[in-house]
Amino acid sequence: MNKIGFIGAGNLASSIIKGLTQSKMDSSIYLFDILRKKADSLAEEFNAHSGTFSEVVRKSNVVVLTVKPKDVKGLLLELSGYSLAGKLIIAVAAGIRLAVYEQALSGVGIVRVMPNTSSAVLHSASGLVRGRYVTDEQATVAENMFSALGKLVWVEDRKINAVTAVSGSGPAYLYLFAELMAKAGVKLGLTEEEAEFFAKETLVGTGKMLAEGSRTPRELREAVTSPNGTTFAALNIFLQEGLENIVFKAMAACLRRAEEMEGEYKR
Ligand SMILES: NC(=O)c1ccc[n+]([C@@H]2O[C@H](COP(=O)([O-])OP(=O)(O)OC[C@H]3O[C@@H](n4cnc5c(N)ncnc54)[C@H](OP(=O)(O)O)[C@@H]3O)[C@@H](O)[C@H]2O)c1
Repeated sequence: MNKIGFIGAGNLASSIIKGLTQSKMDSSIYLFDILRKKADSLAEEFNAHSGTFSEVVRKSNVVVLTVKPKDVKGLLLELSGYSLAGKLIIAVAAGIRLAVYEQALSGVGIVRVMPNTSSAVLHSASGLVRGRYVTDEQATVAENMFSALGKLVWVEDRKINAVTAVSGSGPAYLYLFAELMAKAGVKLGLTEEEAEFFAKETLVGTGKMLAEGSRTPRELREAVTSPNGTTFAALNIFLQEGLENIVFKAMAACLRRAEEMEGEYKR
């Protein structure tokens, strides 16, 4: 059984733990947060154990660092005082390179992961980067953990900011789209409740069609777009008004921000 400790009991830890408890993975979960109440309430919700920093680090064979990027440096300093031999560290912070962890925790197995919040419904699309001290057994543990939370692809560290731009931040783009569709629906005559219902369920259904995996997004789009029909009229506006460029500019800004953060958090 894996003993998985979380340092930082915030949004992402909660999504991952929710996913883990719904999955078939056999694990015990330990939690530490600066604010003990936060760890206690997550622990109560998911039948996990909250404890002191030292207890969580000592008891876990996998330690997941789910704190904000600004708090990683201090955390690494604290962790470097512990014996981490044989433990796997999982690092999820945006904008902090694998090298920063490997310098701070010399010789320790580190897997850098960019998951997303859909971990909570076992549909994360996670990018994993294998550190140089990670054993095959530890790589399998990381793979089991993140495949229990959705799907994953191993990538090189230099690609992780692009992964962040697509899947790490991606859910927020689509939530925004759902919000905007609902807003437009109200302007077109629906009640707020109706518009929200149709926008939300449309995204859910679309995701399920994509999940079937037999057709590409383009094929699915073309299948619902008859020439000169209603969908055709809407898509023409999206394309004429520059949606492709907007999407690219937004994702490039996400990647640039991750690069800036790398500069800020570099040793
Ligand atoms: N949310 C996402 O979709 C997503 C996706 C991919 C990756 N990530 C990464 O996941 C990490 C966590 O994000 P989040 O949204 O879950 O953040 P969050 O909700 O702010 O959670 C972090 C928690 O850790 C606590 N904390 C700070 N320093 C700590 C320390 N030294 N020891 C123990 N606990 C500490 C924070 O307390 P205070 O609030 O009091 O500081 C907070 O409760 C970030 O690095 C982010 O880049 C997030």
